[in-house]
Amino acid sequence: MTSSSLVRVLCWFVLFFALSAFAQTPTPLTQIPGQNAILMGDAWYPEQWPESRWEEDLKMMEAADLKVVRIAEFAWSRMEPSEGRYDLDWLERAIALAAKHHIVSVLGTPTATPPAWLTQKYPDTLRVEQNGQRVTHGNRAHASVSSPRYREFCRQITEQMARRFGHNPNVVGWQIDNEYGYALMSYDDITHQKFQDWLKAKYKTLDNLNSRWTTQYWSQAYDNWSEIPIPVGGHNPGLMLEWKRFVGHEWTEYQQNEIDVIRKFSEPRQFITGNFMGFFDGFDHYEITAPLTFASWDDYVGSGHVDSAFNGLSHDLTRGFKRQNFWVMETQPGAVNWHSINNFLNRGEARAMAWQAIGHGADDVNYWQWRSALNGQEQYHGVLVGADGMPVPFYDEVSQTAHEFAKVESSFRDTVPVSEVALLYSYDSHWAIQFQKHTQDYDDIGLLKSYYRALRQLSQSVDVVSGYAPLDDYKLVVAPNLNVLPKDLADHLLEYARNGGNLVLGPRSGMKDEYNALLPQRQPGFIAEPLGARVEQYYALEKDVPVAVSGAWGSGKASIWAEQLKSMASDAEVLLKYGKSNGWLDDQPAVVTRAYGKGRITYIGAVLDDKLTAAAAEWMVQKSGVKPVFGPVPDGVEVSRRMGGGKQVFILVNYAGESRTVTLPRSMKLLLANKKSDKAELPQYGVEVLLDTN
Ligand code: GLA
Repeated sequence: MTSSSLVRVLCWFVLFFALSAFAQTPTPLTQIPGQNAILMGDAWYPEQWPESRWEEDLKMMEAADLKVVRIAEFAWSRMEPSEGRYDLDWLERAIALAAKHHIVSVLGTPTATPPAWLTQKYPDTLRVEQNGQRVTHGNRAHASVSSPRYREFCRQITEQMARRFGHNPNVVGWQIDNEYGYALMSYDDITHQKFQDWLKAKYKTLDNLNSRWTTQYWSQAYDNWSEIPIPVGGHNPGLMLEWKRFVGHEWTEYQQNEIDVIRKFSEPRQFITGNFMGFFDGFDHYEITAPLTFASWDDYVGSGHVDSAFNGLSHDLTRGFKRQNFWVMETQPGAVNWHSINNFLNRGEARAMAWQAIGHGADDVNYWQWRSALNGQEQYHGVLVGADGMPVPFYDEVSQTAHEFAKVESSFRDTVPVSEVALLYSYDSHWAIQFQKHTQDYDDIGLLKSYYRALRQLSQSVDVVSGYAPLDDYKLVVAPNLNVLPKDLADHLLEYARNGGNLVLGPRSGMKDEYNALLPQRQPGFIAEPLGARVEQYYALEKDVPVAVSGAWGSGKASIWAEQLKSMASDAEVLLKYGKSNGWLDDQPAVVTRAYGKGRITYIGAVLDDKLTAAAAEWMVQKSGVKPVFGPVPDGVEVSRRMGGGKQVFILVNYAGESRTVTLPRSMKLLLANKKSDKAELPQYGVEVLLDTN
């Protein structure tokens, strides 16, 4: 071998190892060079207060170790008091003053709240509701996302901000708009026309559209694009799914309008994000977050208390949008003002939530809001500082948590959660089921949650991703409701199983194509043959059905939904059967599994009770060789793991309602208690951060 080819081979080796290390723990793009690895902050509205007050607020934030403010996202009328007259000097002063107190700024573009001069002079920028009425000014999200005129105003104000702050060293990033107007659309002529044009670009010919939507049904056939309506209420399932996608397309384009102008005038180190809302389903979040640096979300409990499994699932969902760490851009300082009972979180509960967020991959947690405006719609919302300008009791809990973040932050540098189990979530499938639930209690997100709960408990780390994500690194992939399962997605999943993966599909899977038409095969469509089994008939249940007296997973019941399976291949194994029920289901298979390539495919045709779901999860985990990331923890204690940069960190959060002692798998450094030990004592809502030095 010549010396140059030796060098080449060595280079390949280095590259190969660098890439495989990267595949394991990608650098979290959400950590900001020069700042702590995990941050805490708040939403601050300097425009609502006299400038003479600002420094006092910032001093109190600094004393609490708050390191980030998100500002300006509703301040359009202050930045552009009349058309084309801009005033950004005050914002520059606010950013500089925050920096003096070691606080960096995230700038929100103010496009969720156009000023009154704009909506009154150009009423076509206001949204039209389904009943044909234009909304009135002043309740935010009142503009039409599809209005070209509105988009141009958005571009202009964003350009002014980006030109001014795109190189400001104290501005670390941008948030586009705010919660994207809850995906509300304007039911006006412009939007309608855009929808028809979008359909035309997608389907090319009316023949194609008519055939995909089977418009021979109920005389829906269209012979002109202008005849296609915006669906209001129930409609053709193909039309309804496309409307949802069009809504996503409009908001993605709206977002891009602002991204383009920010990118043009800003340094690449400034991130661009949007603040999403967990399982809010107004658009496909895999699509809308694609052009962003990372995803953020607003984590609100509303009434009652945190459901730790659902909150963990929502974090993991957000992490899965772009398969990387994320920010909690807003969370509630005790209470909100918009739920049925705006009760306060218990003392310690918000701290537990903040640490849970970090455990699931958040690199920043911000409270909404610092102080309530003296007037305005949200006077009763939780805050850190009261109307008198003095800290409220909750300030101390935030301050304690933020001090803890600052104390242990270095252990989180370059760390991310890494999981062996993936749950698949699909907006198309969710919408398709929601359009036609067939039985009122069918809850696809509830089913996702029950598998999440069971699998999370066993594996202690679960990713929630799109079915189109790379799956090869997962030992187990579970899709509780993959109703829309077109050929390309089926091929991707089958390839995963063929290469050794364990694929599990839940009820209603493999029924529809990408146009929301029934597949001309029995469920699970393209997966049926490889599975060696198919669904003969589905049944909405009006009462529970016993399952599996002789089944491998023990016995229990199915409720809400049951599918009668039929095994077609001699090596397809029936794991669970229905007991006596409606005659049709009696003694019929409910769960079938079959080896496929180097892996396995399993189909679960019913909504199982919690005990059976847990048994199913146990079986899946064993079959696929998934190991818990930490080891046994007492009931009610959640453990999460982040790894990377040569470190492994565990976060323990006690949601049990009483004290718990956790025995560690080996002696670790307890970063909050400041000692080395092989056990951790956690009071109710107690937290410990463990640096595994072995
Ligand atoms: C949302 C918004 C905030 C604020 C909070 C109140 O998340 O983004 O502006 O209204 O709710 O909970």
